Amino acid sequence: MISRTMQSSVNAKPFIHGPEADAVAAVLVEGQYGHSRETEAFEQELAQYLGVPQVVAVTSGTDALHIALLAAGIRAGDEVIVPSMTFCASVQAILMCGAVPRFAEIDPDTLCVTERTVMEALTPATRAVMPVLYGGRAVDLSGIHDTLAASGIAIVEDAAQAFGSWCGPQRVGARPQATTCFSFGPIKQLTCGQGGAIVPRTEQEGDAARNLRLLGIVQPQSERVRTTTYRVESTGLRAPLSGINAAIGRVQLRHFAATEHRRRSLWRAYQAALLNLGDATLVDVGIDSALPFNCVVRVPRRDAVFQLMHAEGVAVGVHYPPNHLQPAFARWHRDLPTTEQAAREILSLPFHPAMTSTDVVHVVTVLGQALSASRAGERPSRACYEWRSATTDSSTSTSSSAASGRP
Ligand SMILES: Cc1ncc(COP(=O)(O)O)c(C=O)c1O
Repeated sequence: MISRTMQSSVNAKPFIHGPEADAVAAVLVEGQYGHSRETEAFEQELAQYLGVPQVVAVTSGTDALHIALLAAGIRAGDEVIVPSMTFCASVQAILMCGAVPRFAEIDPDTLCVTERTVMEALTPATRAVMPVLYGGRAVDLSGIHDTLAASGIAIVEDAAQAFGSWCGPQRVGARPQATTCFSFGPIKQLTCGQGGAIVPRTEQEGDAARNLRLLGIVQPQSERVRTTTYRVESTGLRAPLSGINAAIGRVQLRHFAATEHRRRSLWRAYQAALLNLGDATLVDVGIDSALPFNCVVRVPRRDAVFQLMHAEGVAVGVHYPPNHLQPAFARWHRDLPTTEQAAREILSLPFHPAMTSTDVVHVVTVLGQALSASRAGERPSRACYEWRSATTDSSTSTSSSAASGRP
């Protein structure tokens, strides 16, 4: 029997509902592995879920950001405001356009940029702002939309971690002021295996993104197969979402209500369990609106706590080492004391939908012991935690179909 400790021995992993395997097999047999009808059906279903007119599916979240910036008109030498506290993919997407990152500070409670930190980072060369929806938290820049628009500055949201979250009464992705980019990578709220999507602001931006993802060819795949030629009107990338990946995403979307319930329940279980742990401060994801991607705490003596928890088999992580301190991005370094302080303290607890509230109690128990031991400079005593059988703990499970879908 697999030990129950296994659920916290990985920091994150995909959550598969079950029918994904048959859906992939059907595409393999049909033989349409590139951008296909399956991809276009997924795009339509995503648009319906988000309540938007169009979605452009692409190979990854990184490609979504790269293409969205190009479609928004970002070119060589333009400056894009981005938090340093993000996965390096956000910054690489900016550089791949020939543009340059302008790192912005974050709110220490949410690890996201604010209207104030964006305005502080603004320069005459700024052409876009890329808020990163850290952990699934929506970033509301509505108070500066008009100011940015008046200066021709686009908002391209990095919502790689925020599929399924809300911003006020609308889903993230549904606000017309921002172009939104999602990732459907392996451990995201919705996974395609690999994948990503752009929600464009206008039909024109959507057309540009569709051309950019398929080598600048204007005709959609469905038209190309019926003509003797095609037309290349712009430069472009090779970044379609494969029908194989789209098939996984379509199943995931059909079962998404179960995923949403599990992730929110899990985050709330952590919130309750952490209440008595004075030394650990939960990073506020805004759980009433967010569909959480991760669960991050700030702790003193983080590096020691990290090592001590790994020694106990609990797979904590650090998301992220700040980008303005990376060698590749050193040219764009700025003094960002709030980001650097956060980077020394953040610790991502194991978080994925297969975990139960029993797993949460185990993680928080080990965290408490590691905090005590790190204070004393010792190794923690082994967690004397009695596992209950998985079958007796259904506190974060939702339906029998979701439960049977455990990976
Ligand atoms: C904040 C952020 N931006 C961008 C990406 C890139 O997405 P992908 O891995 O699908 O390319 C990720 C993925 O981990 C991410 O977390």
